[in-house]
Amino acid sequence: MTTTVFKEDILEGLRKDQKTLPSKYFYDEVGDRIFQEIMAMPSYYLPGCEREILRDKSADIFEKIKEGNEKIDVVELGAGDGTKTVELLRIGDSLNAIENYIPLDISPNILEVNEKNVKNVIPHLSVKPIAGDFFKTLKEFNKDERRKLVLFMGGNIGNFPHEKAVTFLQLLKDSLNTKDYILIAFDLKKNPKTILKAYNDDKGITKRFNLNILHRMNRELGCDINVDNFDHYPHYDPISGRTYSYIVSLKNQSFKIEDEEIHFDKNEVIHTEISKKYSLSDVEELMDEVGFDTVQHFLDEKKFYTLSLVKFR
Ligand code: AVI
Repeated sequence: MTTTVFKEDILEGLRKDQKTLPSKYFYDEVGDRIFQEIMAMPSYYLPGCEREILRDKSADIFEKIKEGNEKIDVVELGAGDGTKTVELLRIGDSLNAIENYIPLDISPNILEVNEKNVKNVIPHLSVKPIAGDFFKTLKEFNKDERRKLVLFMGGNIGNFPHEKAVTFLQLLKDSLNTKDYILIAFDLKKNPKTILKAYNDDKGITKRFNLNILHRMNRELGCDINVDNFDHYPHYDPISGRTYSYIVSLKNQSFKIEDEEIHFDKNEVIHTEISKKYSLSDVEELMDEVGFDTVQHFLDEKKFYTLSLVKFR
């Protein structure tokens, strides 16, 4: 991503009547580190639920997919450091069900770490990391006849607006063979207070994460934003299942992005992120819209989170 694209995206959002900033820009080096802190927060229950399902349900997941002695490739989209997936791989490997693990990520550095982490636990597993845009990579795979289990973990689909989730799944469908399976993580609707706490911790970690986008504008666009004059405000709507994150301007103020002055009224909000929470029927409807069948939902004990296994209709 070039600075020009970053600047244009930021300006486009801040020129709107209802200002927005794209949440994908949370994740620079600093943002990645803060996100690690979020994942370690007790109130941010998502990673713990995911780990629990992978530990307790991976054997059942392979059971659903397996056809005789045939081995499959496990492909992970946005694989990161691999630490969360290693449990599924360990179990799949012990069932003799995996030919290759193929982690895909935009970052070649994180893929090196991924391979080391996975090899540490399963030294003999064939790991074939591929860096780059995962849709392009998946298209290449289609030439390969071996069946695939494609993983999209972390609940990242919740950060897509509905239309983008549909487009993403359609692209994924176009890149796969009809006998492939997909395992997608969704954070589920639950007590609204539990959800709000996950995005509103008292240590201010999520606040730092949200406001990092302003620091990033200072760092990369040479802006002169006094970040202390902005606050973090999360809101959960239990009916739509959407958690909204906002940045609030604490006073009348302006800053410049190159020559363009952007003004904020006191208490004006900038919308930064949506984290959608689903019911199981929301998941099924979404899959239906794209032409996938939901094979089974694999839930944690508290029913907070699902890894939903889907396939072509
Ligand atoms: C990456 N994604 C699934 C996180 C979420 O829960 O929506 C990002 C996040 N935003 C605030 N806290 C965590």
